[in-house]
Amino acid sequence: MAAIRASFLLAAAALLALWCSDHGGVVASDPSHLQDLCVADKASTVRVNGVACKDGEDVAAEDFFFSGLHMAGNTTNKQGSAVTAVNVAQVPGLNTLGISLARIDYALHGLNPPHTHPHATEILTVLEGSLYVGFVTSNPENKLFTKVINKGDVFVFPKGLVHFQFNYRTTDAVAIVALSSQNPGMITVANAVFGSKPSITDDILANAFQVEKTVVDQIQAKF
Ligand SMILES: *[C@@H]1O[C@H](CO)[C@@H](O)[C@H](O)[C@H]1NC(C)=O
Repeated sequence: MAAIRASFLLAAAALLALWCSDHGGVVASDPSHLQDLCVADKASTVRVNGVACKDGEDVAAEDFFFSGLHMAGNTTNKQGSAVTAVNVAQVPGLNTLGISLARIDYALHGLNPPHTHPHATEILTVLEGSLYVGFVTSNPENKLFTKVINKGDVFVFPKGLVHFQFNYRTTDAVAIVALSSQNPGMITVANAVFGSKPSITDDILANAFQVEKTVVDQIQAKF
């Protein structure tokens, strides 16, 4: 009797293990939607994780539409790059859908400086020119992955990791990126660290960067 019970338990455990390997533990995307659409109601004061839904009666095709990505962004700035974002702020129909888009323009030697998207993985394709791109991992700690990519090439920046793109060539470059969030978020490392409002005190940054406070003050003055 004991032997039968033991073999029954073993079989049950094996079945459970099989089921778990099939169904268990791995979640690679947001949970499924419970409705076709939830167009952002920008006027709503309801605070939810995302934006409250508009009344379905008020939804129109325009809520799912954006025009203008054929136009270059203005790269006349210190970095020589411009991001034209198309996320839930521009397209309310993206609310709850976990996806968005951007166009990035790079002047000669233009840089999209080291930054992270706290909410999104990014997949980039080069439409024009060439880019030197890279990201840094947390595990293995601070390992840099880089590549030169050309027209038609695709490169991925995993969610949350610090990454950059640099147009090292002597022609303009253009890229389109897709992001796995309606609201990817953007933290530019230098701006966050040296340009926060109010400032992080210079003794903290002097310690963090192992430089004199005067060096920190110089950098902070630029932001
Ligand atoms: C681009 O930005 C620069 C700097 O802000 C500005 O002077 C210039 O007028 C802008 N160009 C266009 C075409 O908007």
